[in-house]
Amino acid sequence: MSHYLKDKTLVVIGGSSGIGLRVAQQAADIGAQLIIVGRNVERLEAARAELAACGAAVQIYQVDAHDHAALQTLFTDLPNFDHLVSMVGDVNSGGFLVNEIASIRHVIESKFLTNVRIGQLAATKIREGGSLIFTSGTGGRAQDACGSYVGNLGLNALVEGLAVELAPKVRVNAVSPTWTVTPFWRDVPAERVASIKQHFEQVIPLKRTASIDELASAYLFLITNGFITGQNIAVDGGVMLGA
Ligand SMILES: NC(=O)c1ccc[n+]([C@@H]2O[C@H](COP(=O)([O-])OP(=O)(O)OC[C@H]3O[C@@H](n4cnc5c(N)ncnc54)[C@H](OP(=O)(O)O)[C@@H]3O)[C@@H](O)[C@H]2O)c1
Repeated sequence: MSHYLKDKTLVVIGGSSGIGLRVAQQAADIGAQLIIVGRNVERLEAARAELAACGAAVQIYQVDAHDHAALQTLFTDLPNFDHLVSMVGDVNSGGFLVNEIASIRHVIESKFLTNVRIGQLAATKIREGGSLIFTSGTGGRAQDACGSYVGNLGLNALVEGLAVELAPKVRVNAVSPTWTVTPFWRDVPAERVASIKQHFEQVIPLKRTASIDELASAYLFLITNGFITGQNIAVDGGVMLGA
């Protein structure tokens, strides 16, 4: 496994932070060449420096994936690649009665339709034997996180559809993390993050939250196992099994 991804190129849309950055690091450890995409150029440069310090070959592209014209340009500019991971997906909290339509629409556009577009564009550039991995999510209920819940359902349907449409050339899967401490919560006050973490440590049957490495390794598993397609792996400590 040590050079499994030698001469293979992995694109991580959202590879400059959190889970996506760790996926890039783990893929580089087994030889992948990396292309990472994000909006914030400082974060992209910092990630490139961190990855390059470990000997990885890294290209960066500054693109907001919500801007579908920019996304199209990105895929025109990208070379052919072997694997693509998308970390794109904004979230919301609260049920259908407390959220404005615009907020619900934004999350569904972000989590579902932007990833549909990524799938359509990636299909034109991905090499035979490659894979696409999207990021869904678990742990929330429709009444607690309405837009995210619907977005995740859409994304899971996308994975099933694309897996058949792109077979046998390319495999398509998703990873569903549950609530995890990552830089995703950088704008939430630390005390609030601590209290949400405590809540999840109680409701998750395994009585803790995930490490970023545990989440990232699920993406690597899906990249490296050539006989899995159309699947959604929940890396969530069994959170949906509880009361
Ligand atoms: N952490 C959790 O609790 C949790 C739980 C379930 C699901 N998830 C999902 O996991 C994914 C990644 O989360 P994370 O925890 O790793 O967050 P993170 O540390 O904030 O990383 C997100 C990455 O995606 C990039 N990104 C976000 N929106 C983008 C856009 N519109 N265009 C291009 N790049 C974009 C970010 O860079 P820029 O910000 O610079 O663009 C960053 O590189 C998200 O889809 C999230 O919904 C997270």
